[in-house]
Amino acid sequence: MKPHTSNGHPATEITTESLLSKETLPVDETPEILSLRPQSLTDYIGQLSVVETLQIAIKAALKRKEPIDHILFHGPPGLGKTTLAHIIAHEMGANLTSTSGPALEKGGDLLGILTHLEEGDILFIDEIHRLPKVVEELLYPAMEDFAVDFIFDKGVHARSHRYRLKRFALVGATTRVGLLSSPLRDRFGIFRNLDFYSVEDLTFIVKRSAALLDIPIDDEGAYELAKRSRGTPRIVNRLLKRVRDFAQVRADGTIQKETVREALRLEGVDEKGLTDLDRRFLKTIIEFYQGGPVGIEAIAATLQEETDTLVDVVEPYLLKIGFVTRTSQGRKVPEETFKHLGFPYQNQQ
Ligand code: ADE
Repeated sequence: MKPHTSNGHPATEITTESLLSKETLPVDETPEILSLRPQSLTDYIGQLSVVETLQIAIKAALKRKEPIDHILFHGPPGLGKTTLAHIIAHEMGANLTSTSGPALEKGGDLLGILTHLEEGDILFIDEIHRLPKVVEELLYPAMEDFAVDFIFDKGVHARSHRYRLKRFALVGATTRVGLLSSPLRDRFGIFRNLDFYSVEDLTFIVKRSAALLDIPIDDEGAYELAKRSRGTPRIVNRLLKRVRDFAQVRADGTIQKETVREALRLEGVDEKGLTDLDRRFLKTIIEFYQGGPVGIEAIAATLQEETDTLVDVVEPYLLKIGFVTRTSQGRKVPEETFKHLGFPYQNQQ
């Protein structure tokens, strides 16, 4: 059922087509994956302290009949930033407008969105660290005073006109909080980091998703899948679908530990959950740079990958499990990584 706004109208998710083209959606933000997302905080597994903060903030805002404070989520991709924005809108009974930093190229792109927001609406800006400076500066008065200033003419003839906006709440998401300017960061009332999920939490998520997809899975199968999903719900849900296909075509239609092992071998996902790109990243450091230290740009050039992809997507989990370390001289890999990839250990400088 669709949520309702406080004035009784059905809440709709407005996606400004021109500003959020389908091509910008990652493959695993397809409608099927979206449908596995929890719709309320009570269904949300893990991130306990974030959930508690949000429960309090939402209840308080509803009690005061005010919009919720502006919220910034940061952390690696796939950990629930977008899901939480949807949940907040749902629980506030508000409309959600979604866009992203790179989609807002000009001030006018943001103005068009801001001036169409209704009282209490949630504006979600993904990859907010990629907002152009001119657009970011428009956000400051919008966030602080719920107003935007239109400037007419230039120089001595310049005049400005203040346009009042409806009181809205901005939910920003970023994988690179260090790239956010402090004036923008400081305008968020709630500022929370999402960390990788424990295997136990991911096991619960797999079981919940398997029930929604109507595929039987046993405890060991769920645990094995959780263990190989890089601490990330988006990955666990994507892999579950591949394992479901495998179970229905090559096995008895149920998921056990062995089904997970065989299906993930075909996906190139190893016992630690590392993908082909993870292994290529680590092998590059070992084979070309004797285990490091080596700068990220050099690794990216050797791999012919974007530095941003390595920093945002590949490295965070490898750092988390200690398969790579970051020093002032660059990236290094420890003995355990050599062993995992089947290389003899070379002592580094
Ligand atoms: N699906 C994706 N993320 C989830 C979460 N944190 N809890 C429950 N289901 C999820």
